[in-house]
Amino acid sequence: MATSSLKQKTRYITTPIYYVNASPHIGTTYTTVAADCIARYWRMRGEDVLFVTGSDEHAQKVMQVAEESGLGPQAFCDQMVEAYLGAWERMHIGYDRFIRTSEDEHRQVVSAVFAKLLESGDIYKDTYEGWYCVPCETYLREDELGEGNTCPDCAREVSTLGQEAYFFRASAYSNEVMREIESRPELIAPESRRNEVLSFLRQGLQDTCVSRANPGWGVEIPGDPSQTVYVWFDALINYLTVAGYGLDDGKMAQLWPPDLQLMGKDIMPRFHGTLWPAMLLALGLELPRTLFGHGWWMSATGDKISKSKGNVVDPNAEVDLVVEESGCTTDVAVDAVRYYMLREVTFGLDGAFSSEGLLGRFNSDLANDLGNLLNRTLPLIERYVDGTIKAAGPGGGGLAEQVEDTVQRAEACWAALDFRGMLEAVWELLAAGNKFVDERAPWDLHKQGKHVELTAVLYDLADTIRVAAIMLAPVMPSVAEEIWQQLGLTENGTQMRWEDCEAGSLPPDCVVHRGQPIFPRIDMAQLRQRAAENGEAETAEASEASKPEKKSEGIGMISFDEFQKLDLRVGKVLDADRVEGTDKLLQLTVDVGEDEPRTVVAGLAEAFSVRELIGEQVVVVANLEPATIRGVQSQGMVLAAGGKVPQALIIPDRDCEPGEKVR
Ligand code: MSP
Repeated sequence: MATSSLKQKTRYITTPIYYVNASPHIGTTYTTVAADCIARYWRMRGEDVLFVTGSDEHAQKVMQVAEESGLGPQAFCDQMVEAYLGAWERMHIGYDRFIRTSEDEHRQVVSAVFAKLLESGDIYKDTYEGWYCVPCETYLREDELGEGNTCPDCAREVSTLGQEAYFFRASAYSNEVMREIESRPELIAPESRRNEVLSFLRQGLQDTCVSRANPGWGVEIPGDPSQTVYVWFDALINYLTVAGYGLDDGKMAQLWPPDLQLMGKDIMPRFHGTLWPAMLLALGLELPRTLFGHGWWMSATGDKISKSKGNVVDPNAEVDLVVEESGCTTDVAVDAVRYYMLREVTFGLDGAFSSEGLLGRFNSDLANDLGNLLNRTLPLIERYVDGTIKAAGPGGGGLAEQVEDTVQRAEACWAALDFRGMLEAVWELLAAGNKFVDERAPWDLHKQGKHVELTAVLYDLADTIRVAAIMLAPVMPSVAEEIWQQLGLTENGTQMRWEDCEAGSLPPDCVVHRGQPIFPRIDMAQLRQRAAENGEAETAEASEASKPEKKSEGIGMISFDEFQKLDLRVGKVLDADRVEGTDKLLQLTVDVGEDEPRTVVAGLAEAFSVRELIGEQVVVVANLEPATIRGVQSQGMVLAAGGKVPQALIIPDRDCEPGEKVR
């Protein structure tokens, strides 16, 4: 093999290759989105990356569906691969190579590997008498079967097979695989997966059947066309084909071993965590640096989401839903789905996927926190510095330090594949940015004629948004680009590079271009009402409560003077919490432009979540006599439309300064 050159090794990142009997679903999309984010991150750090995904075509179940479709397997797979490519493009997945197991190069490598292991004696011929799960394409031992001879993974009935077959001597590598895993804690991650694999290994690896009777589709066994290579053996070899194993020594030296192989937890213990390392050891190859098994998306009822359970989540439909409900662009909706998947659940753990959760995060995280910071900063730049971000020193509000701290945290999270932690860190920075606007009150600086300070504050804000966009770009590439566009950065020809996360490196004199809001707010109250009308979770009581109350006949006229007694003001909800012992009341901390924010107790808990309200602008009756409600002193009232159960908050239709009078 060629010796490796001085060139930095290419970062080689893989997803599993997917069975193309059906279109991509939430599980396959999850792994591929995660891998894409990681690839984007390392590219932004200037690394040479090879990110690979692909299609696993020789499975029995693929062949069955192909036959039912009336197309031959090849034509069927060609069609399905097109669907995958389209889906990945739509989901902003920028793979470098899409490998198909039916391509010649791969078939050649599979034959070569098989021949090599036959020659070394690691593959031998024998008779297979045992169990096989067709949907999972898995050979099973008697003691692994579930009740009534069912598959431990998919719970469907398994069938028996009796045939002359070829076996891979996995048992010979059991101890060595165990030693490797024990000595290299980063080899199998997260920790829980490592423990699962180790306990699987403690039972000892059994020799694995790696062939089956030739169904006329697959890679034939070298010298024995009556059999084809077992689909998993065939599929795992894709990682070698891409690296040029046996084809291109220079490429192999540049790529091997893979830096990161991602997959769902179901295909870790039996395949990627044991069979795959055993195959590599038999071939005398180095093991991957890290194999990461993520968790499953479950339905709201706690079942795994899968085609066989009929509860699939179609990522395309989720994207369409976001567009429909918010009116954002498809690119933004795709990024919102990507964001939701990585923010909602710690990578490695299981989580429940829900459309309501997705729309909720769109409103609270994207529209309220991120969108709000951008949408209030740009008008201030337009208003006070003619739309041009002037070069200035740091605004002295401590934002630059927080930016630097966030970048460090984000880097540590990327290294640990902690997407959620990384996004949380960025969101803390966004919250600090929003607070910075409130505290430094650019409108006051303007009124006081403090122009140097005002320029510096606005520069700090724009710079913080710029760095947040860089940090978010791997997860939300279109959103990041749009933010840069609005900050006037794209015109400067500036590329998004991670090294530009340094605070204060916003180039001088960027001219902002305020566009449409990137994240138009979703009307959650209307959404809930529609859901109720559609009979979802509706009770007679709830529906009664949501009806507009009858106009009270006793309401009389008030004079203009009486109306003028009302002190209505714009307030900004800084914090919200439930009031103990009741499920109706929330305790809000509201900035109404005074020295100290006020506490207001409001009956909003049945209709609004705490998360939804934080950051929201509201209208407050500021001169209502204080009252103690459930032990909390309330200093005002928040206006909302609706009857006993509020339906909608009364909010200004554009950003106002807290304390602004409402007439
Ligand atoms: N073809 C094999 C992989 C061969 S790799 C050498 C395969 N293909 S698959 O199409 O079934 O892809 C399954 C992938 O989707 C796995 O990583 C699996 O864990 C993931 N998911 C399937 N359903 C899932 C959820 N509900 N949640 C998260 N991921 C799950 O297996």
